[in-house]
Amino acid sequence: MQVETQATTPAVPDYDEEIVKKFSIAALVFGITGMFIGVWIAAQLAFPALNFNIPELSFGRLRPLHTNAVIFAFGGNMLFAAGYYIVQRTCQTRLWNDALSNFTFWGWQAVIVGAVITLPMGLTSTHEYAELFWPLDILLALVWVAYGINFFGTLATRKVSHIYVANWFTAALIITVTLLHVFRSLQIPYSWTHSIPIYSGVQDAMVQWWYGHNAVGFFLTAGFLALMYYFLPKQANLPVYSYRLSIIHFWGLIFIYVWAGPHHLLYTSLPEWTQTVGMVFSIVLWVPSWGGMFNGLMTLKGAWHKLRTDPIIKFMIVAVTFYGMSTFEGPMLAIRYVHQLSHYTDWIIGHVHSGALGWVAMISIGSLYYLFPRLFKKDGLYSLKLVNVHFWLHTLGLVLYIAAMWVSGITQGLMWRAVNADGSLTYSFAESVAAMMPYYTIRMTGGIMILSGMCLMAYNVYRTATAPSGQPKLEPKLAAQ
Ligand code: HEM
Ligand code: HEM
Repeated sequence: MQVETQATTPAVPDYDEEIVKKFSIAALVFGITGMFIGVWIAAQLAFPALNFNIPELSFGRLRPLHTNAVIFAFGGNMLFAAGYYIVQRTCQTRLWNDALSNFTFWGWQAVIVGAVITLPMGLTSTHEYAELFWPLDILLALVWVAYGINFFGTLATRKVSHIYVANWFTAALIITVTLLHVFRSLQIPYSWTHSIPIYSGVQDAMVQWWYGHNAVGFFLTAGFLALMYYFLPKQANLPVYSYRLSIIHFWGLIFIYVWAGPHHLLYTSLPEWTQTVGMVFSIVLWVPSWGGMFNGLMTLKGAWHKLRTDPIIKFMIVAVTFYGMSTFEGPMLAIRYVHQLSHYTDWIIGHVHSGALGWVAMISIGSLYYLFPRLFKKDGLYSLKLVNVHFWLHTLGLVLYIAAMWVSGITQGLMWRAVNADGSLTYSFAESVAAMMPYYTIRMTGGIMILSGMCLMAYNVYRTATAPSGQPKLEPKLAAQ
């Protein structure tokens, strides 16, 4: 009897890897698409004729398409892929409900297709990062709640008692984004395409940046920290440096992040004390963020040599370094005195992309390189050399991007505030725009390098997927891990 039970019980749980594969491929495809649009709008700023005088292709319409594509299509698909992969492995059980898994995949892609159609048409709610019109808001809410039910259902049916810290971060992502999305999207429709928000004036601004800042904090940070806490130790084949620190990191982040939103509204009609709360919490946020960065970096303690041989680890470690850089820069930008210079300038765009391209994109790319050979059941990637080339294209492109934005941002800030002895402005706005042109060309060049790296990745993944298993062409290094 006992023998029979042993024979019928599978040694490895029957994980749903198909759904992870679908989300991972979608992340790669939309990563390329979103970055292509990023390069295009970067080129439009350097060469405005590239809008071809077509309203649908103008900067104002393509910009939200870029932000939605990179954050929700690239980042979102990545978070689904990672969330589903990690929760199954760490709970040693299959996803709770296959139908819900498929619904979340097709539903999420439907939201993306809806965005691709409506945003260039100019159909938006006008709220940054929440631009989608109301029917898409409803679909997005349904998909997200389905994700939550599936994720927590899996946690509830886990075969191990402990809940690994990466799942805590994903849980915080799911709960917080539900609240953010629902409350930001409360609106009264007056036609199939248009609505008015229930908030107005300063309340609307406050709700907007409570939403916008926490979208950064939970979508672009907490969600991707789950990737750091799972894929970095896995790729390095080492435990997390300090599990205790990871728990402090978690609670520190989620308690502090939610109060920092008003740093987007310094020097506005928001009450002064609210602005000060935002500034102070932003500065405090530096501490848990760096605790997390330290934990990530020190996970490689005693194995730094892996940085020489493993380009996937390089992606992950540089990502963690950029997490540290952007969470140092952010609190600094929230200090009123610095803000006077940086607000509305390209410095903010530099900060955004050091977080988005340095942290979010690099940890995602590293994790996708970890995932693909496993999802396609291959011994390794088609070429680690190509991964290395990708790493350098991305890193150098990124440095060009953010260095150009730092210089242009600080130049803008200084030109705007310069006054003559009689109190008149030294420079006209048009002069400051002209001064930006060389930097916009440098940023575009950096963007092209980053996009080329993504195309190399797609080629590498395609060759990995189509190579017969056990091919000698596959580089064996990964197989050992
Ligand atoms: C090849 C890569 C990329 C290029 C060339 C690029 C380029 C751009 C450009 C030109 C803008 C508009 C800047 C302006 O209005 O002055 C922008 C905005 C933005 N991008 Fe990217 N981008 C890239 C990748 C990404 C990625 C991967 C993410 C997120 C994961 C991202 C997130 C954003 C956000 C959030 C904004 C709005 C910033 C703000 O309003 O302050 N970008 N990007
Ligand atoms: C300790 C952490 C951080 C703090 C305190 C912080 C603070 C700030 C501040 C003060 C601004 C400027 C607002 C303005 O001038 O209007 C800003 C903008 C922004 N930050 Fe951060 N930041 C942090 C981390 C990050 C990270 C890790 C990312 C990306 C992954 C990020 C993405 C953004 C985006 C997208 C904006 C532009 C928002 C907009 O105006 O459209 N931040 N941040």
